[in-house]
Amino acid sequence: MDMMNGAAVWVALAVVFVAAVITKIARANPPSSSKLPPPPVVGTSTIGLVRAVLTKGIRGMLEEQYTKLGSVFTIHFLGMKTTFLIGPEASAHFYQGLEPNVSNANFQFTVPMFGKSVMMGVDAATRAEQHRFYVDALKSSNLKRHVGPMQQEVEKFFARWGEQGTVDLKKELKQLFVLISARCLLGQEVRDTMFEEVSSTFRELVDNGFHFSCVMFPYAPTPWTRARDRAHVKLYKIFSDIIKARRSSNRVVDDVLQNIMDSKYKNGRPTTEEEVTGLVLTVLLAAHHTSSNSTTWTAACLLNHPRWMEAVIQEQQQIIHKYGDSLDFDALLEMGVLQRCIKEALRVHPPISMLFRTVNKSLAVRTKEGSEYEIPSGYTLASPLVMNSYLPHIYKDADVYDPDRFGPERMEDKAGGKFSYISFSGGRHACAGEAYAYLQAKVMWSHLLRNFDMKLVSPYPKTNWRDITMEPIGPVTVSYKRRQLPKAVMEN
Ligand code: HEM
Repeated sequence: MDMMNGAAVWVALAVVFVAAVITKIARANPPSSSKLPPPPVVGTSTIGLVRAVLTKGIRGMLEEQYTKLGSVFTIHFLGMKTTFLIGPEASAHFYQGLEPNVSNANFQFTVPMFGKSVMMGVDAATRAEQHRFYVDALKSSNLKRHVGPMQQEVEKFFARWGEQGTVDLKKELKQLFVLISARCLLGQEVRDTMFEEVSSTFRELVDNGFHFSCVMFPYAPTPWTRARDRAHVKLYKIFSDIIKARRSSNRVVDDVLQNIMDSKYKNGRPTTEEEVTGLVLTVLLAAHHTSSNSTTWTAACLLNHPRWMEAVIQEQQQIIHKYGDSLDFDALLEMGVLQRCIKEALRVHPPISMLFRTVNKSLAVRTKEGSEYEIPSGYTLASPLVMNSYLPHIYKDADVYDPDRFGPERMEDKAGGKFSYISFSGGRHACAGEAYAYLQAKVMWSHLLRNFDMKLVSPYPKTNWRDITMEPIGPVTVSYKRRQLPKAVMEN
């Protein structure tokens, strides 16, 4: 289930290109009567832009333009027009823009992957209801039930490790989170008897569905569209069989698949097999790469900052002192230091570097500097998380890993209003799985911190800027030695 590697920059470009095509269609809309000027355009040629990205990275290139042009500017690239919204003030237009005025239209290529009856295949009102299904499935009262299964998966997984050794933690965590997703999102049937089959078919769906040619021409008869469609049909068959079996036996299980099966639209209509399959595959995609990526970066940050490693170990000792060895939901909620350490790793290394929308109806925006512009319909909007996470007027010494910035005295994640911290997006499309993501990361960390001493053997990893998921480059080699937290300290 390792997806979206390598070709991700091309996918991002293709997404923007698709939006450019939509521009031509959208231009059929009558022009707005507003007299506001369009945002300033970056004056660099295509070659100059490519050179700037290659030499300074995406963040460096955007910082340069932000300094020159302010918080809203447009880049023309190979005929595509993308307006970047920098900082919480400008980002509000991105995250609060009303559908259908601001939409995800450039993700139409996902329709053949997940089906016509979900997400980009349906109208905005149905999509909003389906988003509610996710939010309900992943809300706190449901999450409690996942702690036990997550813990079992984690314990079983790390039982494979010896007394001491060296591992590529990036690879290990990818495997672990696939297993947790299979169990908690897809259900026991998949985890116990169909894991390999579902994993490999899902990989085929995603690898082919995100192939540049599928993004550009989702319905052209190419080898990639055919492989994608074969994978979709196979997954639909697997899940519709599971759904039928569960429904006919009245068997009710505690997993996200079941929550989505039990969801109902406002008019009382239950979800169909096709919808459940599409929704559960979407959530699997949303969960997988982000989870393993963010946990790998958290590991790199903690192992590189002994002060914070010490702080999270001490917190575990206090939690054990209060709750004993068992790991229940309340104990996990009390791990505030660990929560801030994960949150800060996500700020420094947001697993999704950039989000895109399409402007369907021209949009007036106000910048942080007080200027007003109108972004024409058909433009692509970009929210570069990779840059918004480093703004000096929001984050003090933004390049420093400092989880204390989210503590009660500083609360830098609120410094510029509700879009100051957007690693989980914001507004109507905000990540439905944020609480679940913290929960599984904390279950995993509690086990590692309580049972292993670890050291980073490889150098602190560099970020793979070519990949939209911003993975660490190369293996993240860690040496480990089994131990138990000292009892004397536990009983303090
Ligand atoms: C650290 C881990 C994660 C990060 C940083 C993250 C971040 C994000 C971001 C940036 C979006 C895009 C929203 C947009 O287009 O504006 C998103 C969407 C989503 N995420 Fe997450 N995510 C994480 C883990 C998860 C997990 C574990 C789940 C599920 C169990 C999940 C479920 C979803 C869903 C369902 C959406 C689509 C929301 C919608 O448009 O309806 N995510 N996430």
